[in-house]
Amino acid sequence: PETGLVDPFGRRITYLRLSVTDRCDFRCTYCMSENMVFAPRAQILSLEELYAVADAFIGLGVRRIRVTGGEPLVRKNLLSLLARLGGRNELEDLSITTNGSQLQQLARPLREAGVNRLNISLDSLKRERFAELTRRDRLDQVLAGIEAARAAGFSAIKLNSVIQKGRNDDEVLDLVEFAMARGLDISFIEEMPLGQISSHARDITFCSSDEVRARIESRYPLQGTDHTTGGPSRYLQVRGSATRVGFISPHSNNFCGSCNRVRVTAEGKLVLCLGDEGALDLKALMRRHPGDAPRLRQALMDALRLKPEKHHFRTDEQVQVVRFMSVTGG
Ligand code: GTP
Ligand code: 5AD
Ligand code: SF4
Repeated sequence: PETGLVDPFGRRITYLRLSVTDRCDFRCTYCMSENMVFAPRAQILSLEELYAVADAFIGLGVRRIRVTGGEPLVRKNLLSLLARLGGRNELEDLSITTNGSQLQQLARPLREAGVNRLNISLDSLKRERFAELTRRDRLDQVLAGIEAARAAGFSAIKLNSVIQKGRNDDEVLDLVEFAMARGLDISFIEEMPLGQISSHARDITFCSSDEVRARIESRYPLQGTDHTTGGPSRYLQVRGSATRVGFISPHSNNFCGSCNRVRVTAEGKLVLCLGDEGALDLKALMRRHPGDAPRLRQALMDALRLKPEKHHFRTDEQVQVVRFMSVTGG
């Protein structure tokens, strides 16, 4: 009998991050290089294969799935996959992380497909700066997308901001106030060194969660909560407000001891840790043995042996992980 997914350090895997495409309509400077090369279509898992992977994980006890990219909403017919996943009673949580560019059209259909939580990236409220950071002049669409998402009735909407010194650290309070005015949560993320992005000096722009928190607390007291999504984010409540502020601090607060998650890339690689190259090629296995669900489940269980105890991200230029963030969706 299957005992579920437990790694050698006793961590139970109940959460899957499933990347459905490595493509994106943005080119965020910390995520992609200018001339990003995407995987050829034949190398990307079909919707059927993506569902088979999700199904195998659900069969092994995964109860929460977050769909990521690249930008997941550029994947054709994604809604059909989401509706199938949304129909699985075993899942307690079906969520998606998006850059928001298409939410004006897609927020409602996503909700109807059964997506209950939405994370939307937003690093700046200034049009020109947004265009510099994402290399796309699309702030207005994203803001309209956030409004469409609010109207669509998700159980939670969270903003994500990667804060970089000298780039957008002066907007921390504005972003918190933007979230507070709309009853949204917001997470501040320390940049992680994934992929060789040549134009990018990560040691200079690194901004710790402690610095971000100090800026917020200069105006808004934060108090502890026991809220958690089981992930790396530590949430605090803005006193007197519905807004929670999360901090994802891979550099300053290692959270690996309680890791509950693995990732599958759009190319069908099972990645055991964001900060590690160790991976298992699920696509090769599925294409060699189409429809062999027991074999797939067994491979997933065996692969947990590859999960490292923790990541070893550094804040200097040295890249330990060649894979770009857009390949695993964070
Ligand atoms: P939930 O836990 O599902 O609420 O969401 P989340 O905040 O973890 O997910 P989201 O997709 O919004 O990602 C926000 C940031 O957290 C991204 O920069 C991710 O790369 C980062 N992140 C999520 N999980 C991990 C992890 O296990 N390790 C590291 N180092 N970063 C992570
Ligand atoms: N470090 C930290 N976060 C990143 N993201 C993309 N690239 C990086 C990186 N190098 C964030 C995006 C998005 C989330 C899924 O990951 O801003 O909010
Ligand atoms: Fe696209 Fe997200 Fe990467 Fe930006 S961070 S380029 S929105 S995948």
